[in-house]
Amino acid sequence: MNIKNYIESIPDFPKKGIMFRDITPILAHPEAMRYVTGQIVEFAKKVDANLIVAPEARGFFFGTPAAIEANIGFAPVRKPGKLPRETMSVTYELEYGEDELQMHVDAIHEGDRVLIVDDLLATGGTVDAIVRLVESRKAKVVGIAFVIELDDLKGREKFKDIPVLALTHYEGE
Ligand code: PRP
Ligand code: MG
Repeated sequence: MNIKNYIESIPDFPKKGIMFRDITPILAHPEAMRYVTGQIVEFAKKVDANLIVAPEARGFFFGTPAAIEANIGFAPVRKPGKLPRETMSVTYELEYGEDELQMHVDAIHEGDRVLIVDDLLATGGTVDAIVRLVESRKAKVVGIAFVIELDDLKGREKFKDIPVLALTHYEGE
């Protein structure tokens, strides 16, 4: 399957000069969802993960079906103020300023083997922050899976010691 057939490229969104890669056609086509989920599940088995962790919002689209299919648990990473019980937080740098992500502290246990799933690897800032959250619980990130990798941003260099799966790649425009 060529998954690029299910990804739309929209110029100048959300601002001028940005080429937005829209994965919603994947969601609209079960054969594409089945392909993406299957690839993530195969990777989860290879790295022997027992938990999938994914950030809102687009990481949820692919992380939850993969967790069900792999028969392992799922834990959400959310923007501040959304999770009702005791949380742990991590901050990360944006182009201008910083942002924060949270998880329930009891969502990860010592010794867990975590697969992080997200739709897109750009700078890697989001997933790097999640790696820090997972490791703060004495759990191990055994793999990271993306649908799309933007090669020219070199986000992968942040994850030298962790196996990274990307189902498709874009360079520049
Ligand atoms: C986008 C994308 C990834 C992240 C990649 O999410 O879905 O999560 O940015 O960028 P990075 O590698 O530079 O961190 P966004 O924050 O736009 O939120 P959304 O998933 O809720 O749409
Ligand atoms: Mg996102």
